[in-house]
Amino acid sequence: MNLFDVYPLLDITPVKGQNCYIWDENGTQYLDLYGGHAVISVGHSHPHYIKRINDQLSQIGFYSNSVQIPQQKELADKLGTACGYPDYQLFLVNSGAEANENALKLASFVTGRKKMVAFKKGFHGRTSAAVAVTDNPKIVAPVNETSNAIILPFNDLALLEEQLKTNEIGGVIIEGIQGIGGIHVPNPEFLIGAEKLCKQYGALLILDEIQSGYGRSGKFFAHQYTPVKPDLITVAKGMGNGFPVGALLIAPEIKPWFGMLGTTFGGNYLACAASLAVLEIMENEKLVENAAEVGEYLINKLKNIPGIKEVRGQGLMIGLEFEQQINDIRHVLLKKHHIFTGVSGTNIIRLLSPLTLTKEQADIFVKALTETLG
Ligand SMILES: Cc1ncc(COP(=O)(O)O)c(C=O)c1O
Repeated sequence: MNLFDVYPLLDITPVKGQNCYIWDENGTQYLDLYGGHAVISVGHSHPHYIKRINDQLSQIGFYSNSVQIPQQKELADKLGTACGYPDYQLFLVNSGAEANENALKLASFVTGRKKMVAFKKGFHGRTSAAVAVTDNPKIVAPVNETSNAIILPFNDLALLEEQLKTNEIGGVIIEGIQGIGGIHVPNPEFLIGAEKLCKQYGALLILDEIQSGYGRSGKFFAHQYTPVKPDLITVAKGMGNGFPVGALLIAPEIKPWFGMLGTTFGGNYLACAASLAVLEIMENEKLVENAAEVGEYLINKLKNIPGIKEVRGQGLMIGLEFEQQINDIRHVLLKKHHIFTGVSGTNIIRLLSPLTLTKEQADIFVKALTETLG
């Protein structure tokens, strides 16, 4: 059987990973500034992460959500404390799209409304409701109903109010920092205004922190650079450091009923073990603080490199926009300097390294990029 060929693949086969480095089948070492698409939060193959998952698997690996799984509550308590939302409720799923799908569904259940507002350049996943609120018509199939999705210009409060005034909007979904769209940080006044307007007109505010959350921005959640408290927060990627896990954090006012949401695999023992290990490592190694410090250091250095049109981002979620296409730059970084980078569109390099990145590793990239552009 052939693989269904939907990905433009790099000519690299990683066989081993350790912290910020990966190795290919020939033993060549690469600095990983892409983190497998913002997923590797605590570094590749962290010993505590491996032990936590192995220990759990040797006890019990899976049972469905028809039984008590105490590790889910342990995770809810630990995550609530780590992220500053101890009074919120946790619903565990398996991926980012699934988290957003359930958040949109929940907003619709709670408000009784079917229309959702999202923003230009936003990405929320490829399942039905998530893709409908994603600003990319190329990935929306006819079956994915878009007539209930209204896509507005980013950071425009007046247009948002115009929509909310209809009293037909159930939810407003915003990325903590737009990732796939090219690293765009929302204006703080926009987030604050959106929260106020959502309250005024009875819509739920959903913060998609799937890429920007879990310490990546230098705060646990990117929206925590503002005082905003969303009704729903979605997470995935860095939460499991590669183990597929996602979640919804749900405000205490929202009451569940049996059968409202459901999943077979969500919250399984191994996903909980992986997620607990990630939080323990983040706490022990102060990784949110490290992302803030090394991110600021790297952003400042990058701003001094001639040839980059704009440097955007917060913490270790960084976009480098160029006038020209970036294929050749990325190729030289990969093949000559052995550095993995991410991409957005044709002219933006995205840096989404593990949160463990050091200043020395940041310097290695700055030197390699300066040389490549020079
Ligand atoms: C902001 C955001 N939301 C949702 C998703 C979808 O997550 P997943 O690929 O786990 O379904 C992504 C994936 O890149 C994302 O960046």
